[in-house]
Amino acid sequence: MKKALAVVALTLCSALSIANAQTLKVGTEATFAPFEFTDEKSNIIGFDVDVIKAIGQEVGLDVEVVNQPFDALIPGVLTSQLDAAIAGITITEERAKQVSFSDPYYKAGIDAIVRKADAQKYPTLDSLKKSRLCAQIGTTGADVANKISGNVGTYNTVVEAFMELKNKGCEAVLNDRPVNLYFLQTKNEKDFYEIPELYNGEEYGIVVSKQNKDVLEKINSGLKKIRENGTLAKIHEKWFNTKE
Ligand code: ARG
Repeated sequence: MKKALAVVALTLCSALSIANAQTLKVGTEATFAPFEFTDEKSNIIGFDVDVIKAIGQEVGLDVEVVNQPFDALIPGVLTSQLDAAIAGITITEERAKQVSFSDPYYKAGIDAIVRKADAQKYPTLDSLKKSRLCAQIGTTGADVANKISGNVGTYNTVVEAFMELKNKGCEAVLNDRPVNLYFLQTKNEKDFYEIPELYNGEEYGIVVSKQNKDVLEKINSGLKKIRENGTLAKIHEKWFNTKE
């Protein structure tokens, strides 16, 4: 009898500890280099992936990163299909009504890319106010495009928006500046030009369900630690070649 009880107790304990060694299922949308994109082997890599993994390591959570459409990330967190989302997601009032954001981990902002041949024609963001614009669906870039001209084509990926610009389906792509810059540099895109004007300043946060206070706290404490111990700066240097 005693033995049987001990076995039950043991089984219970190990079941509990398995439940404790929690894996955080984190959604992203991997067409957003250098924050999240895929390598030749289809591994999801980038600044955000390193950040969430480093946070997980600090607070003892295994992290599994899964690729999803951008406009499915917040719904995924709301329906608990995802424990969190990291995808260069701008902290906005609108979104913060639905989900919790971690402390900010990156400063960005929206700007525009046009075809190089049009650089004179579109010297400022305001000069785009009568133009057809492109953006990724559900993004703050799409919101800004709507404010500038209201004539906006939205695409599932940023890459498709750039293709549409190339094919003259629109006059500019509105998107996050660090991603635009990286795109121009790494793709050696000679046909595109960045309008040197930032529409606004934005900050990225990690999205968690409002119900999941425990995970939010863990993420924030891990983020604080990797900021203090220099890991965040190292990750920044790896992807942007600068410390900040
Ligand atoms: N920062 C912008 C937003 O929050 C764009 C993010 C797009 N991210 C991505 N992985 N495609 O709306």
